[in-house]
Amino acid sequence: MPVAEQYLNSAGKGGFMDSSVGKKVVMAVTGVALFGFVTVHMLGNMQAYMGAKAMNAYAEFLHTMLHGAGIWVFRAVMLVAVILHGWAALSLTLDNRKARSKGYREQQLQAATWSSRTMRYTGVILGCFIVYHLLHLTTGQAHPDFKVGDAYANFVSGFQQVGASAFYIVAQLCLGLHLWHGVWSLTQTFGWAHPRYNKLRRTFASVVTVVVVGGNISFPIAVLAGIIR
Ligand code: HEM
Repeated sequence: MPVAEQYLNSAGKGGFMDSSVGKKVVMAVTGVALFGFVTVHMLGNMQAYMGAKAMNAYAEFLHTMLHGAGIWVFRAVMLVAVILHGWAALSLTLDNRKARSKGYREQQLQAATWSSRTMRYTGVILGCFIVYHLLHLTTGQAHPDFKVGDAYANFVSGFQQVGASAFYIVAQLCLGLHLWHGVWSLTQTFGWAHPRYNKLRRTFASVVTVVVVGGNISFPIAVLAGIIR
């Protein structure tokens, strides 16, 4: 649907943030921030392949940058991004439901519903994963043998547990579905949906998804295979 038509069809009360376009822009901008984070996070975790010293030095740097303030600024930005992303998703879903009861064209609905349904489920699973992940590798309550200040040891002993590794792998597959649709949709929101660019958009979404998810899945597998120990 053209952007102008979406704006007119929005179930909002007149403000930009109430319109479906405004919410999609919020989703896309926060999506870029979250996508940037998962990409940099995966690359940072590659330090695990270089051993305990490299990984712990990297973790130490993250915790002490800008005299320890850096990580809190980063956490605040990420928290706001996650909240806005979830709010826009929920709000758009509710708007779509309202619009559906007013009778949209059948074909458009089917395409939109399949994508948004997948996004909703994978989004909720990712939310649960993040809570578990923080308790597992950052604060340690969900870790069997957490050692404060030893990110490498926590990483290795954490993934030596098959159940935890399996959950990480399933969560990364959900991340893959979410990322693919997310990158595809945000490039549409930014106005790059054009027959000339669609192949490029699809290729870009596929490459980043395979790189991020492949990198992340390699960590538990490398520990279980004894490559990282
Ligand atoms: C197999 C994949 C992953 C591995 C091995 C991994 C590893 C880690 C490690 C070791 C830390 C702790 C760093 C420290 O406190 O020193 C951490 C923190 C974190 N991870 Fe991951 N991570 C993975 C995937 C993800 C994903 C997919 C997300 C988000 C969707 C994520 C979000 C976070 C967040 C928010 C933190 C906390 C950062 C902070 O201290 O504020 N991680 N991760």
